Amino acid sequence: MRAIISAVSHFAPEEKLTNADLVKLVDTSDEWIVSRTGIKERVILDKDKGTSYMAAKAARSLLEQRKIGPDEIDLIIVATVTPDMFFPSTASIVQHEINATNCWGYDLLVGCAGFIFAFITAKQFIETGQYKKVMVIGSDKMSSITNYKDRNTCILFGDAAGAVLLEPSDDNGPGIMDYIFKTDGSGKNYLQMPGGGSLCPASPESIAKGLHYLQQDGKVVFKKAILGMVDTTRKIMEKNGLSNEDIKFYIPHQANLRIIESAAKKLGLKKEQVVINIEKYGNTTAATIPMALSEIYQAGLLNKGDNIIFSAFGTGFSWGSIFLTWAME
Ligand code: UT7
Repeated sequence: MRAIISAVSHFAPEEKLTNADLVKLVDTSDEWIVSRTGIKERVILDKDKGTSYMAAKAARSLLEQRKIGPDEIDLIIVATVTPDMFFPSTASIVQHEINATNCWGYDLLVGCAGFIFAFITAKQFIETGQYKKVMVIGSDKMSSITNYKDRNTCILFGDAAGAVLLEPSDDNGPGIMDYIFKTDGSGKNYLQMPGGGSLCPASPESIAKGLHYLQQDGKVVFKKAILGMVDTTRKIMEKNGLSNEDIKFYIPHQANLRIIESAAKKLGLKKEQVVINIEKYGNTTAATIPMALSEIYQAGLLNKGDNIIFSAFGTGFSWGSIFLTWAME
């Protein structure tokens, strides 16, 4: 028996934040943003709504797609770095929202690799035989921690949620096959939100210094992201005897088009193998991979037996790649 994806969905808010909008806020241009990042617009959630709102929308879509009731869900894992609040967990809020009365849930706070880490955590619960239906949701309201006066970061991020339902298969065929993950905490200072935790609780000083906003050294993260994603993707392909021709879709975390294109080039993948939607959404952190998967599923591009690789890199540093074979008809 293997864990398989039995439903996939996403939710993207309607309000757009275009490059033209950002030009009004910081010293930048559409030409710079498109050429350096590939991003044309992002979607932004209403100020009065939190990450759980998007997560619950994606969760409800999973239930509708799979035609099951919320009481059938055993476990909800929400990957996010922008929980509604530190506690209770966003998973608790989603559980209550969708009325999933027979389950438990928790958040996993990893960042851009959050969805893939949560996904493999969920796989263990299925493959030990413990549970039959686990929801994995990647949801981030990045606009809530973005400094719209900092041109280095505000051009990059957007808000969205993506979700999958994992269930056991009847056989040892298609499903979630393998993964390679890494964490290297020596990179902890290059991408962080320094304020608001136990080390630096909120104070007038922390607010004045902008410590409750995401901060990153873009150049360092850029280089490490390419190296990390290429390394774990190569290794997982070698380990599983996969050649480039065996891969239908490479679904990378969407942080910067140049990161994606450089990684794909180093891996020798063709354009049609690489799933890219960053131009519409920017970097939605934990949501990028399930959202990209959901879009190609909705477009009818996935067939049973297709080999897929997920790959992500982000804060921590934490990164990795997953190999799966699509199991739905
Ligand atoms: O996966 C986890 C998250 N990862 C990421 O978010 C991605 C990481 N990094 C990146 O995407 C890229 O490094 C950035 C898009 C953030 C920056 O691109 P870059 O090609 O590395 O540019 P840079 O930082 O080297 O900046 C080049 C120039 C600088 O000016 P000077 O010093 O050469 O005069 C920047 O001040 O571009 C300037 N710049 C901008 N100019 C116009 C930086 N941001 C902007 C901007 N508009 N928005």
